[in-house]
Amino acid sequence: MDACAVNGFFSSAQIEKYSAAVPKRRSVRAFKGDPDIGQISALHYAAARVALPGVRIALGEAPPGGLYRRLPLVETIHGSQRYAAVIADERIPRAAIHAGISGEAFILEAVALGVGTCWVAAFKRGGVNIPLNEGEKVKAVIALGVPANEGGPRKRKRLSEICASDPSSWPFWAYNAAEYVRVAPSAVNLQPWRLSFAGNTLTLSSARAGANLDMGIALLHMTLGARDQRHMMRWGEGKEIASLIAEDKL
Ligand SMILES: Cc1cc2nc3c(=O)[nH]c(=O)nc-3n(C[C@H](O)[C@H](O)[C@H](O)COP(=O)(O)O)c2cc1C
Repeated sequence: MDACAVNGFFSSAQIEKYSAAVPKRRSVRAFKGDPDIGQISALHYAAARVALPGVRIALGEAPPGGLYRRLPLVETIHGSQRYAAVIADERIPRAAIHAGISGEAFILEAVALGVGTCWVAAFKRGGVNIPLNEGEKVKAVIALGVPANEGGPRKRKRLSEICASDPSSWPFWAYNAAEYVRVAPSAVNLQPWRLSFAGNTLTLSSARAGANLDMGIALLHMTLGARDQRHMMRWGEGKEIASLIAEDKL
């Protein structure tokens, strides 16, 4: 297990801001316009600030033919041209998980600015008009705009379905971290994360191979939920993505 790039990466002000944004975040698919110029410049700054090693977040404008694919059962994204591309340099270890962490931090920055967002994996690759460097791949795009409505209720698994033991017997910080993971966004809302707790360690595992963005998103939510407990994160192996280890309070 080796140390995780997220340790010490976000300031305590960012952690507080993101934690407050988590309950407000919903996937927004209907927009009534683009973010304003002040929001766009704040998003440019946030894009650079949240990028972990191997990640680049670049803002763009959708081409006239559109960027988003139609999916069954969900409203097609419409009403805003602005998007952010979440790009990973696949030569860098764990860049895809980093992309999930950085992309979700960017989303929570946007929510704090009053900008609606939606992670989108079903986009037209040819519609992304951002030049890529060698080794880079667009892992997802994030739709950005003024929300046209409040969004619906969250549909989520119960904590008991994603936790290996009863989380009400865990210390509060671990319970809260699990609750923050529970409300995280995931592709097709599959919620492919599992959590187990032993000793002073909360471990995040993947129930689905290849869900690296989802696991990065969950990892950020886990650290936000455990913010009141001094902790460090370590990478795991195989299905075990990472462990959050509580440290003695100073
Ligand atoms: C990696 C990823 C990819 C996603 N791709 C799409 C997509 O292509 N189209 C879409 O409408 N929603 C997409 N979503 C949004 C999910 O459907 C959404 O997060 C999930 O249904 C939970 O709803 P909530 O975000 O409102 O909490 C994606 C989410 C993630 C994390």
